[in-house]
Amino acid sequence: MRHGRFEESMSTLLRDYGESISFDWRLYRHDIRGSIAHASALKRAAFLTLEEFDAIEAGLKEIGAEIEAGKFTFSKDLEDIHMNIEKELTRRIGDAGAKLHTARSRNDQVATDFRLYLKEETALIEEGIRVLQRALVGLASANESVLMPGYTHLQRGQPVPVAHHLLAYVEMLERDHGRLADAAERMDEMPLGSGALAGSTLVLDREAMARELGFARVTQNSLDGVSDRDFALELLSALAILGMHLSRLSEDVVLWTTTEFGFAKLSDRHATGSSLMPQKKNPDIAELTRGKTGRLYGNLFRLLTVLKGLPMTYNRDLQEDKEAVFDSVDTARMALAVTAEMMEALVINRESVNRAAADPALLATDLADELVRHQVPFRRAHDIVGKLAAESVRTGVPLDKIPEDLIRELCPELLTGWNSLFDPVRSMKARGAVGAPSPEHVSERLAHWKKLLS
Ligand code: ARG
Repeated sequence: MRHGRFEESMSTLLRDYGESISFDWRLYRHDIRGSIAHASALKRAAFLTLEEFDAIEAGLKEIGAEIEAGKFTFSKDLEDIHMNIEKELTRRIGDAGAKLHTARSRNDQVATDFRLYLKEETALIEEGIRVLQRALVGLASANESVLMPGYTHLQRGQPVPVAHHLLAYVEMLERDHGRLADAAERMDEMPLGSGALAGSTLVLDREAMARELGFARVTQNSLDGVSDRDFALELLSALAILGMHLSRLSEDVVLWTTTEFGFAKLSDRHATGSSLMPQKKNPDIAELTRGKTGRLYGNLFRLLTVLKGLPMTYNRDLQEDKEAVFDSVDTARMALAVTAEMMEALVINRESVNRAAADPALLATDLADELVRHQVPFRRAHDIVGKLAAESVRTGVPLDKIPEDLIRELCPELLTGWNSLFDPVRSMKARGAVGAPSPEHVSERLAHWKKLLS
């Protein structure tokens, strides 16, 4: 059973402890692609005949198709995906299969497979971000002129268009997209040819292998090539930040769909009932997404900890890199897809949102701004309007209905045109700076996103 320097076979405990086939089988397509590229380099360097190469390629493709179809039996005794495939290949085609591992180690093999896999997954997550952005832009577009209260400290601050609020998430997601694209750019180099750690005396054309595998570059230091996993960390950290954004959006949905807020209604397809309380409709999707942030953060810390203090170069600790990454990739893809579906079907309750935004107190800052236009220093203007607001709270009279004599006494400048100051539409129009929620700017941004996302 065992070869070379070993006389006894492996303890079953160690076999069960050390196997990775139960999870790294996922890398089979990438492992096969990597092996075919490696074999063609071996052929070009005359370490394989054309016939041997053809047998290897056909054999690997056949094995790939069987795995795809669920017809392949993996063996724990063969530890990982690399050995499972290679052993089976050799069983089928004989000596040619036994030549495949020439000038290669599982160390550069796994480092290559993992990058190939992550390049693919990163592109899929980037597309998932686009899908969610489109859903948010759609909802924003449908509510372009609906005003809602904007909050700080979860206290009503100033009115803003619902579209402006939703587009804030589109901006965040755009940065998430950028972080992923950045990580993808750096992970786009091929370690194959690094061997176990020091390359090989059997020299292969690495550039050609990289071209065949679609890598932009080859790694420039064999020790680095087999031992670092910073590319996976970058992805996990981008996904942790993405998770934080999705969690914040989810929290808004949880708040908005409460009876207390009443700003939005989830479709029945995206809510659950209570087993006990018949009247309830719960925002479970949003809560789960908020909760799954724990995995995304946890997986980042898991891999950071695995990598810390590892001596050069490959160490078996590195096998612990995969499950954390698989879990984060799966979680991010699902979370994006369900959030997009949920946001697409979310209905904004325009009446109650508008009603909340119509609170005249939300325009207190506009009053202070108006005093500034009359040359009152802002700090004093703030103080004066504060007194009006306090009076409104004390007497229960809305800010726009404060008795005239008090206005005449505190801020006579505001007396003429008092009523127009409480027009939220006018207030929005006045917010003309780039990034502020004037209708022009919001519609410009909507047009920008629609174009970018089409
Ligand atoms: N299953 C291993 C991993 O995932 C493959 C590389 C094993 N290399 C070795 N020298 N034991 O890291």
